[in-house]
Amino acid sequence: MLIPTKEILLAAQREKKAVAAFNVFNLETVQASVQAAEEENRPVIIALGERYLPTVDLEGFAAMAIAIARKAAIPVALHLDHAYEKESIVRAIRCGFTSVMYDGSKYELGENIARTKDIADLAHMAGVSVEAEIGSVSRGAFSDEEEGDGRLTDPADAKRFVEETGVDFLAAAIGTVHGMYTGEPKIDLELLREIEAAVTIPLVLHGGSGTPDAIIAQAIESGICKVNVNTEVSLAAVSHLIRCASSAEAQRTHLSAIMADMQYTIAPVMKKFVKLLARQEQA
Ligand code: 13P
Repeated sequence: MLIPTKEILLAAQREKKAVAAFNVFNLETVQASVQAAEEENRPVIIALGERYLPTVDLEGFAAMAIAIARKAAIPVALHLDHAYEKESIVRAIRCGFTSVMYDGSKYELGENIARTKDIADLAHMAGVSVEAEIGSVSRGAFSDEEEGDGRLTDPADAKRFVEETGVDFLAAAIGTVHGMYTGEPKIDLELLREIEAAVTIPLVLHGGSGTPDAIIAQAIESGICKVNVNTEVSLAAVSHLIRCASSAEAQRTHLSAIMADMQYTIAPVMKKFVKLLARQEQA
């Protein structure tokens, strides 16, 4: 069933669990996300990044994703990830997304507040919830996201930002990176605890890929209700395609079968996150 993102995240906050937000951009990534969540009987958020819009038809994608979400046995929300343009946000709201992320993290605080408030007012009129970011997540290896400067979130800024913008969820920069870590992850969990004490809304962790399980578990203890995951799933899919490209048998296989196998390859990677975030024992 398609459920408002806010409902899913407020429930997660009450239960001290987190929900996975998988970056999706085609049928297979949507189906794999829903399959992974259904197998664990957990909600899931499917998130399309604005950066995919040049090649993914937003309205067509939304119709497909919403139809699959409605048939799902578990709650599914449809989120627009890292949107920099108001136009993309308006389009996403019009075609039924249940939440949007406005990313004004490159602006200084006052400007980020003004821009984010404008988006939050607009989205709330349509009953759509809003995620925003202060501080900035930098880019590790194999990521498809824009480079951030790695500025960590200041708790006092977080409090002011949430009060003045009225956003529903806050992406806190605590040292995770988009993509895989190239060295030891340096995640500031103490800072996260200070941010949690400063604001009451659900907190979001960007850069789920490669983040050690123990750190994710502690982050959930300290208010993280949504963890975004992209790169680890993409790497598994690309490895599958490389295996196909170097196999004589796969070279004679129909694309539909290769894509179906790719979906079955990435679903377990997603399931690992769904389980971890639900704080269930890993098999
Ligand atoms: P990863 O690519 O590190 O999983 O991060 C995804 C993300 O945060 C998307 O917003």
